[in-house]
Amino acid sequence: MLFTKFFARILFIAAILFNITNGADPNYMLSLVNQERQKNRLSTLALDSRLNRAAQLHTDYMASIKKLTHDDRSGSLEDRVKAQGYNWSAVAENIAKGQVNETEAMKSWMNSSRHRQNILGPNYKHLGVGYSNNGNYWTQDFGTPA
Ligand SMILES: *[C@@H]1O[C@H](CO)[C@@H](O)[C@H](O)[C@H]1NC(C)=O
Ligand SMILES: *[C@@H]1O[C@H](CO)[C@@H](O)[C@H](O)[C@H]1NC(C)=O
Ligand SMILES: *[C@@H]1O[C@H](CO)[C@@H](O)[C@H](O)[C@H]1NC(C)=O
Repeated sequence: MLFTKFFARILFIAAILFNITNGADPNYMLSLVNQERQKNRLSTLALDSRLNRAAQLHTDYMASIKKLTHDDRSGSLEDRVKAQGYNWSAVAENIAKGQVNETEAMKSWMNSSRHRQNILGPNYKHLGVGYSNNGNYWTQDFGTPA
């Protein structure tokens, strides 16, 4: 019980730090994703710290090369997610550039069938979010554990 409370507090502080350091709010993005899933009677997702790391690293990579891409010097999406300790059975990635906030990024993804399919993937369990204010790069990583 005590441990759970302690852990929840650490997560809360980590979420605040994440927010302050990169200017996006993964919890807000999660709530937008879950609203869309609930409209479609799908299970909601939870944030996963390993997917957050994978998404943030890829976002920083895109910002550094100033290019929207799924290719990454450190490997394929599958490899990048595994490298963060997330053993997946399914994984997908949405990327976007130029949107000023979570709402705008979600609007453009929901407007594109390929990205929408990832947001509404019936079997995903977890979400990771990355953002860079250097060019407004966004990443969503979706995963299902192995
Ligand atoms: C992931 O799989 C590897 C073996 O492929 C294993 O060593 C590791 O403990 C697994 N990690 C998790 C978090 O399940
Ligand atoms: C997101 O950005 C748009 C466009 O600038 C703005 O109209 C909207 O109020 C912003 N939404 C949030 C939640 O910040
Ligand atoms: C959504 O798609 C329509 C038509 O394909 C396009 O006109 C509109 O600009 C798009 N909106 C966004 C936010 O991408």
